[in-house]
Amino acid sequence: MPHSPSSTTQPLPEAAIIVLFGATGDLAGRMVLPAIVEVHERGLMPRAWRIIGCAADELDDEGFRRHVDEAVARRDGGLPDDWDRIRGNARYCAGTFGADSPGTLPRVLEEAREELRRETGAEPVVIHFLAVPPVAFAPITRGLGAHHLADGARVIFEKPYGTSLESFEKLDALVKEVLAEEQVFRIDHFLGKEGVQTIYVLRFANQLFGSEWNRSSIEQVQIDVPEDLDVANRAKFYEATGAALDMLVTHLFQVASQVAMEPPMDLRDPNSVLQAREAVLKSFHPLDPAEDVVLGQFDGYREIPGVPDDSTQDTFVAARLWIDTERWRGVPFLLRTGKRMATKQQRITLVLRPPFGPLAHELKVPNTVEIDFAGEGEVALGITVKTPGPDLTYSSGRARLNLDDVPGGEGLSPYASLINDALVGDRSLFTTAEGLRAAFTAFAPLQGPDRPAPLPYAPGSWGPEESRRLAAPHRWMLGE
Ligand code: BG6
Repeated sequence: MPHSPSSTTQPLPEAAIIVLFGATGDLAGRMVLPAIVEVHERGLMPRAWRIIGCAADELDDEGFRRHVDEAVARRDGGLPDDWDRIRGNARYCAGTFGADSPGTLPRVLEEAREELRRETGAEPVVIHFLAVPPVAFAPITRGLGAHHLADGARVIFEKPYGTSLESFEKLDALVKEVLAEEQVFRIDHFLGKEGVQTIYVLRFANQLFGSEWNRSSIEQVQIDVPEDLDVANRAKFYEATGAALDMLVTHLFQVASQVAMEPPMDLRDPNSVLQAREAVLKSFHPLDPAEDVVLGQFDGYREIPGVPDDSTQDTFVAARLWIDTERWRGVPFLLRTGKRMATKQQRITLVLRPPFGPLAHELKVPNTVEIDFAGEGEVALGITVKTPGPDLTYSSGRARLNLDDVPGGEGLSPYASLINDALVGDRSLFTTAEGLRAAFTAFAPLQGPDRPAPLPYAPGSWGPEESRRLAAPHRWMLGE
């Protein structure tokens, strides 16, 4: 049974092969390999499958299996019970794959195909997973085309898929020479989070929320992702990227579009969901760097080895995004994220307008609908009630539902959820070229001459004071 709410119309294939480029890299070890095993453990893998690791390291099949053993053993839950039986599903192709250097991949892939045809009588689905740095996207894609490995296959691209409107267009033009849009699965793992996926159902299944999901009832939307994480262990990547490019134009914009979309015609039709999300991305107003963006850099960032003394890279961004649709006109979407902040949290807060009627001017704290999308996810309501006792006074309390406590539920990690969707060909939680083009267009002013200089902030804080201005007349709901 496929996972995302929009995917139940497509069957799981009988057999599948995942070709994992960057198979010995950090992302594969931390995320992708454990997620593939999680999908298997949950009974969501096809009945027959293989994984072919590709990387530059000189390993043989057994050497790669040992690498997979270690990666999987490190995850919560360790090795699955049937590990001895399934570890033989892994094969390995050493070398840097490209148009001029096919290495052994075409042969190993054909052998795996043949085995699976014999085992199942079915043609396996092939998924190429590019868990590689962006510079490797183009050569690998060209190689897939040159050696006819793209025919009928699905290709998952890690983020970032482009770093500006121009570089996105260049990459996409090359990708489109080899692949049709329907074959391309651009990953944004925030869309795979349980809390983000629950937005659809919370909103469309509950009239109370659905009918108020608009500017008449909602005064602000806050999407807040503070991180206490340091960047010292990936200074080179971070110095070249920064918080806004790493998190805002990617994850936070996608979460915003998930909140802001118009109701899709059919939640079980992946295309219908995709089109709804894409349409709202096109309504994102280009950011106004002077009025609506505050950048920050934590004190001590420039002392990290590999970071220049005069770096102006941002490690914090707060932005006020405007969405030009009838539903949201005039409602600020406040987006905030940064490294070395006070804590790690991931929360969407819908800040409700003050009520009409007898309490119109009495409430000091706004009512809220909150969706936490870290970990297993949580839905909460910040509501005003009578303070228990003899007097008529008001207090604000929080009612919470942890998604792990939902009867019958057992969440999947974001990568497992998205790999499962790719297996059944469901692109509803992947980004499209049109959507990314719109995102980069809205983000472009922040990459031009008007980009504001980052303001300093203390590690362990909530970022530069100046960012408070954006949330007026309220405050950032986290941390204050
Ligand atoms: C990544 C970013 O895409 O997402 C990181 O590059 C960030 O900078 C991470 O820390 C957050 O992911 P998660 O899984 O903690 O939500």
